Amino acid sequence: MSFAASPSTIMMKSYRGKLHLSIITVIVCSFAFLALLYTERLSFLSSNSILKSQSCAKRGAVTKAKDKAAEENLENHEIDDRFEFDAEECNIAHGMWVFNRSIKPLYTDRSCPYLDRQFSCVKNGRLDFDYLHWEWQPEDCSLPRFNPELALKKLRGKRLLFVGDSLQRNQWESFICMIEWTIAPEKKSMKQGKVRSVFKAKEYNATIEFYWAPFLVESNTDIDVLDPKKRILKVDSVAKHSKHWEGADILAFNTYVWWMSGLRLKTLWGSFANGEDGFAELDAPVAYKIGLKTWANWIDSTINPNKTRIFFTTLSPVHTRSEDWGREDGLKCFNETKPVMKKKFWGNGSDKKMMSVVDGVLKKMKVPVTVLNITQLSQYRIDAHSSIYTETGGRLLNDEEKADPRRHADCIHWCLPGVPDTWNQIFLAHL
Ligand SMILES: *[C@@H]1O[C@H](CO)[C@@H](O)[C@H](O)[C@H]1NC(C)=O
Ligand SMILES: *[C@@H]1O[C@H](CO)[C@@H](O)[C@H](O)[C@H]1NC(C)=O
Ligand SMILES: *[C@@H]1O[C@H](CO)[C@@H](O)[C@H](O)[C@H]1NC(C)=O
Ligand SMILES: *[C@@H]1O[C@H](CO)[C@@H](O)[C@H](O)[C@H]1NC(C)=O
Ligand SMILES: *[C@@H]1O[C@H](CO)[C@@H](O)[C@H](O)[C@H]1NC(C)=O
Ligand SMILES: *[C@@H]1O[C@H](CO)[C@@H](O)[C@H](O)[C@H]1NC(C)=O
Repeated sequence: MSFAASPSTIMMKSYRGKLHLSIITVIVCSFAFLALLYTERLSFLSSNSILKSQSCAKRGAVTKAKDKAAEENLENHEIDDRFEFDAEECNIAHGMWVFNRSIKPLYTDRSCPYLDRQFSCVKNGRLDFDYLHWEWQPEDCSLPRFNPELALKKLRGKRLLFVGDSLQRNQWESFICMIEWTIAPEKKSMKQGKVRSVFKAKEYNATIEFYWAPFLVESNTDIDVLDPKKRILKVDSVAKHSKHWEGADILAFNTYVWWMSGLRLKTLWGSFANGEDGFAELDAPVAYKIGLKTWANWIDSTINPNKTRIFFTTLSPVHTRSEDWGREDGLKCFNETKPVMKKKFWGNGSDKKMMSVVDGVLKKMKVPVTVLNITQLSQYRIDAHSSIYTETGGRLLNDEEKADPRRHADCIHWCLPGVPDTWNQIFLAHL
């Protein structure tokens, strides 16, 4: 039995009586997720195309659907009266995904040398490719395509630092992969570490870095402890992490999914030295609010807004409840090849209470924070998660695990190239 399966199976048994199914799903998910986080990230073993034998009949059907979607899009966009993108005016949360076969991602999971196997879906055997050709079109404006040269120019002489959890790493890797191919090998470098990774574009004197801090605030589980039941959050302190953020010119944060284990969160004020007695157990939104306020206070008291820009990526939707979009329960995002087309679709994997905590905290800050509000647009993309084309415990899922998506499909992280490329398109438009 795999690394991820055993603890989740135990949890399923002991909690089934008490907890709502969706919570169980979240717990199962977070174990799978945690297991993913601790896997070897830098191995580039060639993929064994386990699913090579998948039928071609399906491809034919998919192509027809594609043509139809493209036709519909043409009809819908004969008159395009949208404005040029303007960060002040354009609400990127409202819009639609438009299929365009001629859109090609700027990289592939084979061309980009820095991609984690966790996100390398095609290399890991994914055989349907429509998910690579959707473009987000905001209602009110046209979003410029990602221009790597422009990105590098804007970053000249600067230090850009992504801070957060594995979804932020998902976004960071997407950003790197979209620009790195334009730079000659001797003019770039990459140092990947467990906590901090640094990509350098030497000619531009620019660095694009990632710093691992899944809760932003300190916890005893950032690196070593796997079991969510043993987690204690130090909700009143970011100092251990934030000393690594000082001096950056652009800081891009996120935090969400680690708060959503389904358990109440053990939170602590003061020192860990008080032992484990001094903690309170709080519901996720309450703990989240205290933690985010601690982060906000650090920003407001430390950051000079004339020198440093702050970004915050809103929560990335989790797609583990397939009945949310009318599928059989338990399949999660497995086998999905198209986005949900229903306007304003919202799944249970995106907690509105947690969303409103972010709204409330950011509103009260002195230092302006640019919100990358990617939640609604990502909400539609049930087709774009790593699903079974991922790894567990440092190796690819085996056939048996692939046949059991209920337990093993990763419907939290995203394939790359994929949806985080769109987040970065929006990010660059605001930069
Ligand atoms: C599809 O993308 C191509 C290439 O970028 C572009 O020229 C074309 O206008 C797009 N089509 C639609 C319908 O948006
Ligand atoms: C490179 O950027 C750093 C700040 O990130 C700055 O201190 C340094 O002077 C720059 N060097 C050159 C050669 O521009
Ligand atoms: C930022 O710049 C503005 C205008 O130049 C100035 O009034 C303000 O004091 C500066 N703020 C800080 C924190 O340096
Ligand atoms: C997944 O999709 C394939 C092709 O459409 C289909 O044959 C298969 O039954 C699906 N699997 C499940 C579990 O729905
Ligand atoms: C999931 O969403 C449905 C409505 O779509 C709602 O009735 C239900 O309470 C939600 N469940 C949870 C656990 O949030
Ligand atoms: C993000 O967009 C959603 C709508 O999709 C909205 O409800 C929410 O308030 C926005 N969040 C922030 C922080 O702007």
